[in-house]
Amino acid sequence: MVVVGWFVSQLLSPGWSVHLRPPAGTSRDAEWPHGAASSLWEGRLACGTMTSNGSPAGTARESLVRVEDAVMHYPVRMEGVMGRRRRLRAVDGVSFSISEGEALGLVGESGCGKSTVAKLIMRLLSPTSGRIVFMGRDITDLGRRELRPIRRNMQIVFQDPFASLNPGMKVGDIVTEPLLVHEGGRPGRARAAELLELVGLDPGDAVKYPHEFSGGQRQRISIARALALRPKLLVLDEPVSALDVSIQAQIINLLIELKNELGLAYLFIAHDLSVVRHVCERVAVMYLGRIVEWGKREEVFDRPSHPYTQALVSAVPVPEPLSRAERRRILLEGDVPSPMDPPSGCRFRTRCWKAQERCGSETPRLEHRLPGSGLSACFFPEQTAVPGAAP
Ligand SMILES: Nc1ncnc2c1ncn2[C@@H]1O[C@H](COP(=O)(O)OP(=O)(O)O)[C@@H](O)[C@H]1O
Ligand code: SF4
Ligand SMILES: [Mg+2]
Repeated sequence: MVVVGWFVSQLLSPGWSVHLRPPAGTSRDAEWPHGAASSLWEGRLACGTMTSNGSPAGTARESLVRVEDAVMHYPVRMEGVMGRRRRLRAVDGVSFSISEGEALGLVGESGCGKSTVAKLIMRLLSPTSGRIVFMGRDITDLGRRELRPIRRNMQIVFQDPFASLNPGMKVGDIVTEPLLVHEGGRPGRARAAELLELVGLDPGDAVKYPHEFSGGQRQRISIARALALRPKLLVLDEPVSALDVSIQAQIINLLIELKNELGLAYLFIAHDLSVVRHVCERVAVMYLGRIVEWGKREEVFDRPSHPYTQALVSAVPVPEPLSRAERRRILLEGDVPSPMDPPSGCRFRTRCWKAQERCGSETPRLEHRLPGSGLSACFFPEQTAVPGAAP
């Protein structure tokens, strides 16, 4: 808390001079403020609304961003068949909220709809139905001009640090470009230097071009650019998936530091659970356009109750040889069905080893089903199927 307080005072001081070094005597390794986040969440659940698919939408008071029953169906023109148009159900009734300063991990296999959710929050897409509420304002139907001031507070970092930086621009101009766009005038060199220092780069790097940097350094540049407008929410769409494992750890540590120091909220998207564990207090697991499990980090990792989450958790590498020996990997059979023609009832049923008749005729709601676990969209949840997980 001391560290956070110190940085808040830094942020409020003129010139926004932020450094990643805390004052002497404070710990950089301080634990996350789980207590505060947990009590907020308990409050949200207590007074929160359950939407039509039973997902936690929360209430307006505490949430920074709230997604309510969001649906995104892409129109797709089929080849042959006289150019018939069909709907691809990329996101189908997703609800969640993120509080200020909270990190929510969104995980699931490729194609399950994670990036679509990210684009809906950023309002790069308009949902087919549902609502997006940001800082208490319904932004679902806002036009470009109305969205502009709101976008200052929400920024996105994409997976590929090579594709997302303009190769013809100097790094100093890249990181200050949002200031130029939103505030006009030429941002001074000092702002570029501040931003580069903030993400652990040398202020002298401002005069270089993106091709002079490694993948990890480029992702630092992307993060610096995203922070230029001092947003409240960062949407991180697979920010480390394109990087080597050793570099991944450095970027993850940077994101943890920035979150702690600047009080940022994250929607942290990943296709595997292991990176999410380090960064996020809450985790939502998506399968074929829907959230199937939702909970605190410990609930999802240590006591997953949905078979799909259990399969994902069983694939997370464990460092201790004992746990490794005890852990049985759950290998999912079959392919993910097409989002153009998803299975009736529970969408996971075609790959679920526990599926029963009811799973094909009824859709399981995302709700509290077992003590000690998060919310689960499974009629037959169990906590015991991940040998080696913490009790
Ligand atoms: N612009 C688009 N038009 C049609 N289908 C799309 C479009 N963008 C994504 N999709 C489809 O929507 C589904 C979800 O995609 P996406 O949100 O990118 O998933 P993820 O990020 O989890 O990999 C996938 O089947 C993908 O092919
Ligand atoms: S509802 Fe049925 S098919 Fe779906 S995850 Fe649970 S047991 Fe499996
Ligand atoms: Mg994606």
